[in-house]
Amino acid sequence: MERDPQAHWLETETALHYARAAVRVGLWASERVLIERHLPKSGRVLELGCGGGRVVLGLRQAGYPDVVATDFSPIMVSLARAVLADHDASWEHCVEQQDATDLSYPDASFDHAIFAFNGLMCLPSRDHRLAAMRSIHRVLRPGGIFLFTASDREKGANAAYWAKEARPADVIPGDRWHESDTSPVFIHSSTEQETRAELAETGFEVIECPLSTEVAADGPLVREFAGETRFYVAKKA
Ligand SMILES: C[S@@+](CC[C@H](N)C(=O)[O-])C[C@H]1O[C@@H](n2cnc3c(N)ncnc32)[C@H](O)[C@@H]1O
Repeated sequence: MERDPQAHWLETETALHYARAAVRVGLWASERVLIERHLPKSGRVLELGCGGGRVVLGLRQAGYPDVVATDFSPIMVSLARAVLADHDASWEHCVEQQDATDLSYPDASFDHAIFAFNGLMCLPSRDHRLAAMRSIHRVLRPGGIFLFTASDREKGANAAYWAKEARPADVIPGDRWHESDTSPVFIHSSTEQETRAELAETGFEVIECPLSTEVAADGPLVREFAGETRFYVAKKA
């Protein structure tokens, strides 16, 4: 039976998991380091795939005044709004429903873009991921920063798993359906070379791309929520 890569993100249980993470997990230490290093607070931030509002809440609490948080999933948008409103009634208005592959914002209307916790890699194919990269590139101003993560299948903590993973000949390397408490979740794990090539193809220059464990020692809640991943900090060329 054909599996629907969007189904997982449309379920209430999934959205509740990410809304709880907004409150319990918050910004990772590693995210905080790279956000502080590359995203001046004066800039306008676009968040893609905001889930339950974990990153937008952290940014607002850290003093970023101009953040637009988006997700394609209506239930994620509703719960992110509720999480934000619980902290400050005026913050809920910064969450909007948008598909990252087809953003409706004007060209060059943001200074920074964040697609946190492997959200870009949840898109169901390379073509979808490139469409999102191009759409994000279009809405960033020249020199604007794009920060995201992708699980690395070649280096770091996940390499051993991928090395012994048997792959049917018809499956694209790195593509994987994971079982979950709700519908199975699709995620692509990339290599640094592959993601660097896709960034170059869509008009971005990589500034740095460390593993999360190379940036900071994330606490136990973060490690349980997210494991290790690779950050990409790229600039619109
Ligand atoms: C792994 S979750 C991360 C949630 C949140 N950023 C966090 O770090 O807690 C991936 C998110 O990407 C969203 N997403 C998936 N496909 C998307 C698309 N085409 N456009 C926008 N968001 C999408 C999902 O609904 C989900 O909220």
